[in-house]
Amino acid sequence: MTIGAGLRGPGVLVIEPMGNAGRFLTEAADRLGLRLYAATHKEVHDAYPDRLRSALAGLCATDLTDTARALDDMAAFCRLHRPAGVAACFELFTPLAALLAERVGLPGNDPRLARAARNKVLMAEAFAAAGVPAPRWAAARDAAQAHRIAATGGLGRPLVVKPAEQGGSWGVSVVDGPGPLGAAVAAAQRFTHARPHGLRLDTTVLLQEYVPGPEYSCDTVVADGVAHPLPVVRKDTTPGRYRIETGHTCPAGLDEELTGIVQATAARAALAVGIRNGIAHTELKIPPGTRTPYVIETGARLPGDNLCEVVEAATGISEAAAHLQAVLGRVPDTAPTAAGAASIRFLLPERGGVLRRAAIPAVPGTHSELYLRPGDAVPEPADSSCRIGHVVARAGTAERARDVAAEVVARSRVEVG
Ligand SMILES: Nc1ncnc2c1ncn2[C@@H]1O[C@H](COP(=O)(O)OP(=O)(O)OP(=O)(O)O)[C@@H](O)[C@H]1O
Ligand SMILES: [Mg+2]
Repeated sequence: MTIGAGLRGPGVLVIEPMGNAGRFLTEAADRLGLRLYAATHKEVHDAYPDRLRSALAGLCATDLTDTARALDDMAAFCRLHRPAGVAACFELFTPLAALLAERVGLPGNDPRLARAARNKVLMAEAFAAAGVPAPRWAAARDAAQAHRIAATGGLGRPLVVKPAEQGGSWGVSVVDGPGPLGAAVAAAQRFTHARPHGLRLDTTVLLQEYVPGPEYSCDTVVADGVAHPLPVVRKDTTPGRYRIETGHTCPAGLDEELTGIVQATAARAALAVGIRNGIAHTELKIPPGTRTPYVIETGARLPGDNLCEVVEAATGISEAAAHLQAVLGRVPDTAPTAAGAASIRFLLPERGGVLRRAAIPAVPGTHSELYLRPGDAVPEPADSSCRIGHVVARAGTAERARDVAAEVVARSRVEVG
């Protein structure tokens, strides 16, 4: 007998599972025997892939851009369907999840700090208050103010210019000197509303000291205020003005002590922005010659970029399952069950235009996916929306996984006209 999603329990209400992590969340719910409900806009739900729609036990159709209405609608939905947990799956709605959890009496993050996990100005304040190592920063309303801040020299050179509220490296620029600063501020303020829901964004611009050195990410699952560290992942980006993620590798290749320091710093960052029941994705850089990780940002959500797959392939840990367990108030499973390695590399275009041809060779131990088809528009390589596809490689060591994935990308054909 097949038991449908609707007959199982307990349930978790997911606020917008449409992103990259939604797929991993539905797979983990299936394994844990949980029902997943989605809260989103009706027209966004209509555009879900069939696989996601059919994995859901129900829909709370609401307007996530209207906090009061969304909370009323979701609270009424909770009274009817009695979910045992609330999970955010979309960075911009993580504050809503905290507010809803408090309102309906379910485990959740600290609603007083919840906006700090979404807004990078509030995040910088929360890190400073908690003593989390982070780049020096200043906020600007416009280009004139940004020029005045840069002219003081207090943040050094180069400067990182970014929107207070965005993701995917959209509007993030590394600028050296006053010349490109005005354009960088304009890029950071370009988006006033977020797609696809139309949520209004804070257009404050954050100026940050540039932290040199290799970059890592480390997720932390917090259950009833207790932080459980997850594996550290090495993150590669493009150099230069636009920092687009080119790949991620797990394990990160750090020694045991430094791994522990990164995990402890990521946990402090998560707790500083009020994570109490759920996962946080934290990005950090370690300046050369030091063993001090600086936190670039943290988000109260699962990672994107298929990182759930990379971490699980390398260690056996399901971050999505751990997140669901935490939002249900359970102790998350975070013990590794494998000691392998995995790496994901993204195919980036050299310039924007129209995709003429894209092909990734099939190599044993790897699998790949193309996001675009010939004829599709390819955005300029200024943020992660320009990616054409990816390859994931599994191997016995991180070096091997990274090399194999890089080789497959090097042998791939991308023609943009
Ligand atoms: N202060 C900084 N010093 C050095 N590099 C930085 C700094 N801030 C951002 N970067 C680089 O730019 C990338 C994107 O910045 P950030 O993570 O703040 O933006 P985002 O839009 O949230 O990115 P994403 O969603 O891609 O992680 C970082 O991963 C890092 O490589
Ligand atoms: Mg980031």
